[in-house]
Amino acid sequence: MILLDPNVTALLYLAAAVFFILALKGLNSPRTARRGNLIGAFGALVAVVTVFFSTRLDNVPLILGAIAVGSGVAAPVARRVKMTQMPQLVALFNGVGGGAAALVALLELPHAEDAWVRVAVVFTLLVGAVSFAGSAVTFAKLQELMTTRPVVFPGLPVLMGAVLLAAVGAAAAVVMGGSLALALLLLLLGLVAGVLLVLPVGGADVPIVISLLNAFTGLAVAASGLVLGNVLLVVAGTLVGASGTILTRAMAAAMGRSVAGILFGAFRGGSTAGSTVMSDRPVRSSSPEDVAVLLGYAQRVIIVPGYGLAVAQGQHTAAELAQALESRGIRVDFAIHPVAGRMPGHMNVLLAEANVPYESLKEMGEINSEFRTADVALVVGANDVVNPAAKTTAGSPIYGMPILEVADARQVVFLKRSMRPGFAGIENDLMFEPQTTLLFGDAKESLTKVLGAVKAL
Ligand code: TAP
Repeated sequence: MILLDPNVTALLYLAAAVFFILALKGLNSPRTARRGNLIGAFGALVAVVTVFFSTRLDNVPLILGAIAVGSGVAAPVARRVKMTQMPQLVALFNGVGGGAAALVALLELPHAEDAWVRVAVVFTLLVGAVSFAGSAVTFAKLQELMTTRPVVFPGLPVLMGAVLLAAVGAAAAVVMGGSLALALLLLLLGLVAGVLLVLPVGGADVPIVISLLNAFTGLAVAASGLVLGNVLLVVAGTLVGASGTILTRAMAAAMGRSVAGILFGAFRGGSTAGSTVMSDRPVRSSSPEDVAVLLGYAQRVIIVPGYGLAVAQGQHTAAELAQALESRGIRVDFAIHPVAGRMPGHMNVLLAEANVPYESLKEMGEINSEFRTADVALVVGANDVVNPAAKTTAGSPIYGMPILEVADARQVVFLKRSMRPGFAGIENDLMFEPQTTLLFGDAKESLTKVLGAVKAL
């Protein structure tokens, strides 16, 4: 096979890197996100095809077979996955990326003679293994294959310290010329460290850790680029590392957390602990017609969407209800909490799909002072993001997370199916307040009934 001139290869890699950067730029806004995704995928295609025509590859049939198996599994899974399961899927794909980088490093170790390359090898091995195992645990937590609560046991910090110390020792030995067996030990220690790192992280903090592990994978991939002498891997890995770090910090800030607090809070019995004890206090429930009267005669309504709206796929009905109210001269906005739902931007994507105008979507900082002017806050399938325990109950899993201040509205209406808690597994005192009413039922069905009743007013 004729190989590409190295200059042409470098140009194609540069083009792929530019596509990756344009992809990130596109992902900045819901309007351009789809295009950004496609540009990124095209950049990846350019990168993969370039490798085939610029390097004399061994085992081409095996490589093509692996690509076929990987694509054959990933494409249908990605098509079929529910929007609400997206974080798990991201965790899985991310973990596989970290694991792949670690395997590449392991295979390259025998060829790595330069000490600096061996440093890159041990870094890739360790960080890739941490990312793989940590992502597997986050997947299990979000898929509820295991408890979503923090898992801590006596001696965990000591064990973690010992594993990290042993890993540093093994890494140093590998750099100084250690055998493949030591590298395998390092890989194993990385896997154990990944599991121990994520076990104590509970509930609402899990998505933030997925983002952190995503950044880890990026760094591992960048280091594997140094091992292989591939500039594009260094660039792509660094982009993932940097964007993952920025997203981690942004999500942690939105939840009122520090990244260290998320990772080590449970060691201190800190903010990720919590209680699941539910009380049997009475609540005020009402009919769709009552809710329609409340809404139809209001001047200002703020709709607070949450995870339950996504589960019920009630976004189109919510949009229709907003339109029906607006046609009665009522001002309606949607209040968007940064971690409402199950992935960053979940509510924006959901409501954009239902063609809710972007101007009606108000971020938390913008809308919070306006709840006190609202006649009704209509909370549709949201719970944790409006739970005052975030402000009042130290030790609650959501303590410190800024919330949407729905309690300031004159009336609060919750649409949900039962008294079950949200993701963090804690009771919401707001449901028992005198200004609160609950309309029980699936969010889409309840919205449909309320919409019908509003139209009949
Ligand atoms: P949650 O606190 O999880 O509450 C969702 C509520 O929706 C539940 O109380 C549930 O009550 C109700 N619900 C579920 N299915 C429903 C349906 N078909 N119809 C009507 N109601 C339904 O949601 P939230 O307020 O959006 O908060 C998000 C939580 O997830 C936060 O704790 C956040 O930290 C965490 N989290 C966020 C992300 C990101 S990045 N957004 C990722 C993972 C986790 P019933 O069962 O009684 O109906």
